[in-house]
Amino acid sequence: MTDKLIPLKIAGIGYSVPQTVITNDDLTKLYETSDEWIYTRTGIKERRVVSGTQDAIDLGLEAAKKALGKAKMSPDEIDLIIAATSAPPDLYPAMACRLHERLGISHAVPAFDLTAACTGLIYGLSVAKAYIASGMYKNILLVASDNNSRLVDWTDRGTSILFGDGAGAMVLTQAEDGVDDIISIDIKADGNFGNLIELAFDGKNCPLVEQCEEKPKGIRMNGRGVYTFVAKILPKYVEEMLEDAGMKAEDVDYLIPHQANIRIIQAVQERLGYSDDKVVANIKYYGNTSAASIPLAIAESVEKGNVKLGSTAILCGFGAGMTWGGAIVRLREGIC
Ligand code: COA
Repeated sequence: MTDKLIPLKIAGIGYSVPQTVITNDDLTKLYETSDEWIYTRTGIKERRVVSGTQDAIDLGLEAAKKALGKAKMSPDEIDLIIAATSAPPDLYPAMACRLHERLGISHAVPAFDLTAACTGLIYGLSVAKAYIASGMYKNILLVASDNNSRLVDWTDRGTSILFGDGAGAMVLTQAEDGVDDIISIDIKADGNFGNLIELAFDGKNCPLVEQCEEKPKGIRMNGRGVYTFVAKILPKYVEEMLEDAGMKAEDVDYLIPHQANIRIIQAVQERLGYSDDKVVANIKYYGNTSAASIPLAIAESVEKGNVKLGSTAILCGFGAGMTWGGAIVRLREGIC
């Protein structure tokens, strides 16, 4: 531990998505819907889903290896693993422990999962920031990976149209040049709105006592309620985050938001007065990949040449809880 706060460097970012593409037209085989209905309300044309034995750990592992490669770091140099996930294949062992094993890390390090649904990446970044600032850990692997295609109710056309599977990972370390890549970060939750998106855990009471009510299976969402809640809070929240950081919208190069609904992304874009080339929106091809969506959006847009590194970005997300959060970050050259 040290008395001085240590600045954080984002050293590497990677992503991974499954091969299998499910288009809106494919979904018409499952229920009454249309590409036009889905696309106009959400901005989604297709999503990727895992198939067979592939799961969120496989995706997380691939994203982690890419992020480590960009950071030029070996898995053995990592001294903390955080997995941000709300759709893992198992409740335990934690996904972070599975990743410890799959990365072949030869010694014991702390590894835990963090559940903040689609805000998971921002929550994880905030935890990592505090650990690095305190000097408690030096090299942190943050993996955001969700496998919602196994948890949605594929008969519910209001919810299953939205989600896709994917993973993103970040390697976070001490910034030796003294420049902190997290210019500002904030996380929030309001449990009073918890019933807007729910995934009940299965289970029965001991057979010797009165039984509890059986809970509905799969993700239950009040889509209209989520939309109204987020459209009301998020644009204002992002504006206030900039103000609190003593910055103006034009001081930041890009908006890279959670990809849940194109109309919500546009509402934040309008509030900031950004042109389309400053906003990352890849929801069309991936749907809502939950905690993975922000790192996936960063790394994929850099790969496509839509985001130039050596820049700054506003990240913002929201999800079940309700949780929300944002960060203003520096994206250094060479990180993805
Ligand atoms: N295809 C065709 N019709 C559909 C449909 C689909 N896939 N899903 C729902 N409908 C129907 C409903 O049954 C309803 O019909 P009714 O009026 O006859 O009852 C009608 O469309 C309107 O339903 P509603 O749920 O009010 O639609 P909406 O305009 O709110 O759009 C969402 C639904 C889910 C696209 C939209 O609310 C949304 O994107 N919300 C945000 C959700 C979100 O971002 N969640 C993740 C948070 S991390």
